[in-house]
Amino acid sequence: MVIYMDNAATSYPKPEEVVAAMNYFFNEIGGNPGRSGHRLSLRSGEVVYDTRDALAQLFNIEDPLQIVFTLNATMAINMALSGLLKPGDHVITSTLEHNSTARPLRYLEGTGVELTRIECPAPNFQLDLDQLEQSICKNTRLISILHGSNVVGTVFPLEEVGKIARKHGIYLMVDAAQTAGAYPIDVQKAGIHLLAFTGHKGLFGPQGTGGLYVNPELKLDSLYRGGTGSRSEEDRQPEFMPDSLESGTPNAMGLAGLGAGVKYILREGLPKIREKEIELTNHLIKGLNSIDGVIIIGEEKAENRMPLVSFVMEGVTPSMVGEFLDERYDIMTRVGLHCSPWAHQSMGTFPEGTVRISLSYLNTPSQLDTLLQALYELSREEVRL
Ligand SMILES: Cc1ncc(COP(=O)(O)O)c(C=O)c1O
Repeated sequence: MVIYMDNAATSYPKPEEVVAAMNYFFNEIGGNPGRSGHRLSLRSGEVVYDTRDALAQLFNIEDPLQIVFTLNATMAINMALSGLLKPGDHVITSTLEHNSTARPLRYLEGTGVELTRIECPAPNFQLDLDQLEQSICKNTRLISILHGSNVVGTVFPLEEVGKIARKHGIYLMVDAAQTAGAYPIDVQKAGIHLLAFTGHKGLFGPQGTGGLYVNPELKLDSLYRGGTGSRSEEDRQPEFMPDSLESGTPNAMGLAGLGAGVKYILREGLPKIREKEIELTNHLIKGLNSIDGVIIIGEEKAENRMPLVSFVMEGVTPSMVGEFLDERYDIMTRVGLHCSPWAHQSMGTFPEGTVRISLSYLNTPSQLDTLLQALYELSREEVRL
């Protein structure tokens, strides 16, 4: 049996009810949400709304209609950055960002947007809040940061950053791709104006789901326009949310699965999920520290990080470690740069990257024991590739 430890790329397996909800949608509903007046279209619309509602509960969003569904976090981040920033605006970000933020920002820099990257220094790779505040200038419009790092597992202090943003009257955009469903996020408490999330990682939905929360104070320019099922008599895009930003047939079957994933999380409760993930991460860190030649990157306290650990192994490249685990032990991990070249440049692990073990609530201690045994064997000279 395969042991899956690449949950930061996408979570697998999913809770049974996610698969059941998608099956039910496919077999019993099938209609296009909000388009037609017949009952299958109406039921499909209810499924989509229900998912919006569950997400609003999870993130403490007052009005579920302020959530726009997208295909993934990347699309949500692009919608937010390109929909908000104009030439002459200044944006502050961090060196830990994923390419889904780094690349749109680099592109926007070419159109005249100014960009400042805040270093996240070793050993903990935490955001330097003093440097962040000192970087704010007259034309700063936005702080755009991730919540949890997909490379080193660092979790940024959103409420502290939110306070700084509020004090200076600027917007805060958060990429919650790694933390949604695994870490508490309260958009009101943290003062988040834009929250991008993906459905297929911690929220246990299928691939092809994600979204963007837009604070009602903000109006974004849409990247695309089209059919919404509302105001069909008009050839102009509706101005109300979510239709102003959400055109075309959504992934309703995927959203049925996402809704089931979010309800699973709400039922289990984030404290219980977090507690189990901390236990697993502690087990992993302790085990890795006992293997000769393994060097863990970043924060060693499981309480202060995501349930993912990056490491390098002396004398073996990350890709060799990944190949060994896959071929000999059926263990799936991710090796390399994890779509985050900035992070590896500042961590000193560029260009080979690291081996990343990323866990979910559904992993078990015995799977970790198998992984640790495999790494122990690899650390012995004679079995090296
Ligand atoms: C921090 C972070 N942001 C954004 C993304 C992009 O997510 P998606 O591929 O679902 O758009 C990822 C995916 O790994 C990520 O880890």
